Amino acid sequence: MRRVGIIVASDQGAKGLRTDESGALIRSIVEEEGFEVAKLEIVSDDIPKLRDALIEMADVLGCHLIFTTGGTGFSKRDNTPEATRLVIERECPGIVEAMRWSSFQKTPKAMLSRAISGIRGDSIIVNMPGSPKAVAECMEVILDPLKHGIDILV
Ligand code: MTE
Repeated sequence: MRRVGIIVASDQGAKGLRTDESGALIRSIVEEEGFEVAKLEIVSDDIPKLRDALIEMADVLGCHLIFTTGGTGFSKRDNTPEATRLVIERECPGIVEAMRWSSFQKTPKAMLSRAISGIRGDSIIVNMPGSPKAVAECMEVILDPLKHGIDILV
């Protein structure tokens, strides 16, 4: 069975000051598609914390797909792409290009997403935006092709 890891990047969420909606939404979408969620973790926007969570999901839990949500915009605490860049071995620009292109049809603000995607070992890592609406819009575009990507990779 294909395994998924979900990392919610949120300072407020990590302190328990904000209820996670986007991570829960990713979980329900992927479970609906027959994936198993190995772990959903809420992590502060610190680069080392995000890096370690990504490495654990890839190398220890063996997740085929790892989704991050949040922390891809322009604010000073938006660190998710920087943490992701530290752990990927090969970039997969097409996945985030497709997300930005399709999201741009709905809002020009989509160009503010700095999301990246890449491969580490047998894991495909994808940065998703933080809002549940954006997560739903992006998932619709990338999830089917990603299934094929996993089949080729592993
Ligand atoms: N993508 C979609 N599909 N829909 C959206 O509303 N919002 C954008 C963008 N991507 C948006 C979207 C906005 S406003 C920002 S700032 C970036 O995602 C980054 O969001 P994040 O900082 O929550 O990760």
